[in-house]
Amino acid sequence: MNTLESTPLRITKGITSGKIPVSIVGMGHVGLPLALSLADLGAKVFGCDKDERFLNELRAGRSPIVEHSKNLFPSSKVLAHACPNCGVRILKVGTETFCPSCMRKAQIVEGSVRLTIQMHTVRMRSEASQEMEILLKRALASGNLTITTDTSDAVRKSGFVVITVGTPIDKNRQPDASAMISASKAVGRGLKKGDVVIVRSTVSPGTTEGLVGSILSEESGLVAGKDFGLAHVPETTIEGLALFELKTLSKMIGAVDKRSARAAAALFEVFKTPVYLFDGPIITETAKLFLNIYRDVNIALANELALACEAVGVDVMKVIEATRADPKTNILTPGPGVGGYCLTKDSFYLTQPASEKGFVPRLLPLAREINDLMPSHVYTLLLDAFREAGVGVKGSRVAVMGIAFKGNTSDTRESPSLAVIRQLLDEGADVVVHDPLVKEDDPRLRDFKVARAGTVQESLKGAVAALLLTDHLEYRVLTGASMKKAGPGLRIVIDARHILDPVEARSAGLVYRGVGHGVADRPG
Ligand SMILES: NC(=O)c1ccc[n+]([C@@H]2O[C@H](COP(=O)([O-])OP(=O)(O)OC[C@H]3O[C@@H](n4cnc5c(N)ncnc54)[C@H](O)[C@@H]3O)[C@@H](O)[C@H]2O)c1
Repeated sequence: MNTLESTPLRITKGITSGKIPVSIVGMGHVGLPLALSLADLGAKVFGCDKDERFLNELRAGRSPIVEHSKNLFPSSKVLAHACPNCGVRILKVGTETFCPSCMRKAQIVEGSVRLTIQMHTVRMRSEASQEMEILLKRALASGNLTITTDTSDAVRKSGFVVITVGTPIDKNRQPDASAMISASKAVGRGLKKGDVVIVRSTVSPGTTEGLVGSILSEESGLVAGKDFGLAHVPETTIEGLALFELKTLSKMIGAVDKRSARAAAALFEVFKTPVYLFDGPIITETAKLFLNIYRDVNIALANELALACEAVGVDVMKVIEATRADPKTNILTPGPGVGGYCLTKDSFYLTQPASEKGFVPRLLPLAREINDLMPSHVYTLLLDAFREAGVGVKGSRVAVMGIAFKGNTSDTRESPSLAVIRQLLDEGADVVVHDPLVKEDDPRLRDFKVARAGTVQESLKGAVAALLLTDHLEYRVLTGASMKKAGPGLRIVIDARHILDPVEARSAGLVYRGVGHGVADRPG
């Protein structure tokens, strides 16, 4: 079937009936949820990846990637309002409105969203985290998902190809397009007339039409926009919510020609979310970068304001709460730094090509620098607290609570916690780590000599200090008193996530430090 020349209706029907198979190239955090969601709608999907070990896990029905999603709340309604912290659309279940990412209740006051208390839904979350595996097992059992390392062969059998490989930065913080190049070569070798190729990875402006388009043409002898379709449809989900956001977020499409745009739109219309067409891949490629740069810069602003608050002796969270009286402003929550795969590298995908063309951005690298320095700041708070408590770091047991870079995900990529752990180990601390979602064999923990606690209570037993670094739901229920009960020897708590009430923590007998928590508020 010639996908490019088909009508949108035939394409959509062809996908959900399995007549137009789809190859997903790169079965990671973006590719896997897309593959499973399509397979669940009846599509025949080839899940292609070069990582045999990872594919074997998937073949066995195990998903190394954990998410929670809306399917947990089947009767929920997605509201137009977004969470001021996460940017995720607010859900309404019965009379309850809340953010499904940070799981905080949300009040909608005169059109703007105010976050209130944390929802203590550990059970709901743990059920939800199985969703990826439920979908995976279903897709394998139905035969809708075929997992393979042979991308070219899969492409030969498909009408659509979606490239979702990683686009990292190298050790010099320059964009590394090697995965995109090798994936494009493999796709090109299997490409036929009438196929439609969609780049979903985050790339530098011009990559889809330039680098990818020319490799596909060289390998196949076909011409983009004439013989095969080519488009960029960026993934804009935040980590941990791809399954949910595939069904709720609108999609932006930038294609090399009208037929490619129409075909790409028809593919994503199976999710019944709005699709918007823009003037070529370079617009959507750059727009995707803007979205993540915007967030990185805004987090840097929040972190900078937090540091200023510490200097002048005021509690940043109280100030942010006060600013929310003005709905025009949305200052994000400061924390231990920025982690994850995207925000830590995406600005370099604009900085590098812009610099090459003669404009060297200043704010973008500065935002990166501010955010990158936050783990060291957390460590400085810890040293300060140790001084106040009259204890030395060397040999002291320190509980690191939270290894994932953000709450309710198992993703440890570029996590600020890793930088803090490294500093603690360098200083000779006896480190015990806890994370309810990160697996025992997480590759990023392999290099560290740390003990692993199975529960919060176990991590605090024998600890002199505790660092709250990830805003997992499990930690949101903690108080200074409950921590002290679990670890009677606990003297110090560093709260990088604004989980504890500082007054309560101090009255429980703890030396408290929090990111942005001004010194003047401290007793004495
Ligand atoms: N993680 C997110 O939530 C997110 C959100 C928006 C956009 N993105 C973007 O999406 C892209 C993918 O991100 P990710 O988080 O899924 O990365 P990932 O590292 O989780 O997955 C990428 C996968 O591609 C595979 N791969 C690499 N080279 C390959 C090749 N030549 N052939 C086949 N497979 C190959 C890897 O083995 C890996 O499994 C990136 O450009 C990223 O910036 C990610």
